[in-house]
Amino acid sequence: MKRREFVRSTLSAGAVLLIVPRALRASAAPPVMTVYKSPLCGCCGEWVKHVEGAGFTVKIVPTEDLTDVNRTAGVPQSLEACHTALVGPYVVVGHTPADLIKKMLAEKPKITGIAVPGMPQGSPGMEQGLGKQAYEVIAFERGGKTSVYAKR
Ligand code: CU
Ligand code: CU
Repeated sequence: MKRREFVRSTLSAGAVLLIVPRALRASAAPPVMTVYKSPLCGCCGEWVKHVEGAGFTVKIVPTEDLTDVNRTAGVPQSLEACHTALVGPYVVVGHTPADLIKKMLAEKPKITGIAVPGMPQGSPGMEQGLGKQAYEVIAFERGGKTSVYAKR
């Protein structure tokens, strides 16, 4: 390794170490959530109202294509949905209930995030139709490992 490359990789490793503890620092109020969504997505907007109602402060980043966001965040392709959010050290995909986001932030499981794939009727932000569909909230890890986090 050339010296300049070594310095560069050491610097970037250092930057990661600086960022991670800050993200993991516990706080009483729910942290700010950054939501990537299409400006035209109605159900995304309803979900944002749901998490804001649960006390989260939401910063919206309008985007027409979530592919880059999802790849960078480590979201498995099979779990993609209409919006993706970053909160503390975690990723939240789709119409995930706010109480489960709070549970994850409090319990700090070793996962990358949680997701509700598809858009199940009756999930938060998807209450427009009649009735409620049973659905699973999936925990995922970077690299594609998944497990059932909760059933609703
Ligand atoms: Cu949706
Ligand atoms: Cu959405």
